[in-house]
Amino acid sequence: MQSLKQSPTDPAFVQNPYPFYDRVRAAGAVVMWEDYGLPVSASAATIGVILRDRRLGRAPPPEFAPVIPPHLAPFYAIEAHSMLELDPPVQTRLRGQVLRAFTSRRIAGLAPEIAALSHRLIDALPEGPVDLLAGFAQHLPVIVIARLLGVPESRAPDLVAWSNAMVGMYQARRDRATEDAAVAAAIAFSGYLRGLVADRTRQPGDDLISHLIAAGDALTPDELISTCILLLNAGHEATVHTLGNGIKTLLEAKVPVEALSPDRIEALVEEILRFDPPLHLFLRWVHEDMEIAGHAFARGDRIGCLLAGANRDPQGWERPGKFIPDRLVKPNLAFGGGAHFCIGAPLARLELQVALPMLFARLPGLRMKGKPRYANLYHFHGLERLVVTR
Ligand code: HEM
Repeated sequence: MQSLKQSPTDPAFVQNPYPFYDRVRAAGAVVMWEDYGLPVSASAATIGVILRDRRLGRAPPPEFAPVIPPHLAPFYAIEAHSMLELDPPVQTRLRGQVLRAFTSRRIAGLAPEIAALSHRLIDALPEGPVDLLAGFAQHLPVIVIARLLGVPESRAPDLVAWSNAMVGMYQARRDRATEDAAVAAAIAFSGYLRGLVADRTRQPGDDLISHLIAAGDALTPDELISTCILLLNAGHEATVHTLGNGIKTLLEAKVPVEALSPDRIEALVEEILRFDPPLHLFLRWVHEDMEIAGHAFARGDRIGCLLAGANRDPQGWERPGKFIPDRLVKPNLAFGGGAHFCIGAPLARLELQVALPMLFARLPGLRMKGKPRYANLYHFHGLERLVVTR
């Protein structure tokens, strides 16, 4: 297996990680990323196999479970019941409860609400230069997911703050301050949700939290809290940055407004997700000795899937480094694959398909003010700000 060096906090990499992914792919289907001490793949075919192979899991084999330092216990107490950190059959049970609320048909019914909300947010944008990330992209997904769960919209700023602090744990540059902030957020977030669950138990509504409570023994109280936190966090972090990355790409590529018309918007959104997705690296643990792309792996090893690298694999895409608005729609890996395939994909797609055409229709003079910079948050890939004039 070849080895490659690349600091994940190197400014050039943070701004443009794609040349490194190309180097990884050219060096082999699986390559050692020295800085992480982690074998990784940027090959679409290899990642497709990894994500679907039941001998690999999100959770470590029990004897390899990392020892949790006491100061992080409250954070990992939440993660311990998150479907994203678990494997079948527990993950399947938790996922099944949530999936019922996330069917494509149910989600499609939200389109008018998402449109009304987008209008409201655009109406509220100040005149003059404005940061579309803070002024638009950060609000829309969090309000939509809060409404779905039945969390009052007025708590959206808290949800954003808690979620930002918690996902900090997955950044390459994490330090003790990041950890303390994540723990404080985990405690505050779960405390708030326990109160809300008690309210909804007394007085149910037509929201996801009430439905999950009504599922009775299907989820334990701890699983219910972890599931809500996962949905609220996963439900907006990635969508915020897909909106930001997408708007930037559309403006840079000078994509004509016709590409945002109803008959072309699906293809455009898929290309945005392929070209510059917000989540780049996901890990799997090896549960049985096995071979991956001709390399021997042992129980307890880990392997990293560079989803954003797979999306630019020339084996899967012609001219993969080029943004082509009306590329033929076919699956890419922005939402992952296999057992953990993103539950929120229909919702995220709908938000993008509704919000982007509306933004460009309502703000036809949209221009970027300066070149936006990606934040140093690897393995997240999203902008610091997106300042525009209109
Ligand atoms: C463009 C926006 C989004 C992107 C790019 C994205 C990406 C992903 C990816 C790559 C995974 C799989 C991780 C893995 O296999 O290890 C995932 C899982 C997940 N996503 Fe999303 N996501 C987005 C939006 C959403 C939304 C809106 C929601 C909430 C409603 C959501 C909820 C989830 C959940 C609950 C999981 C875990 C599923 C499981 O473990 O079975 N995501 N997402």
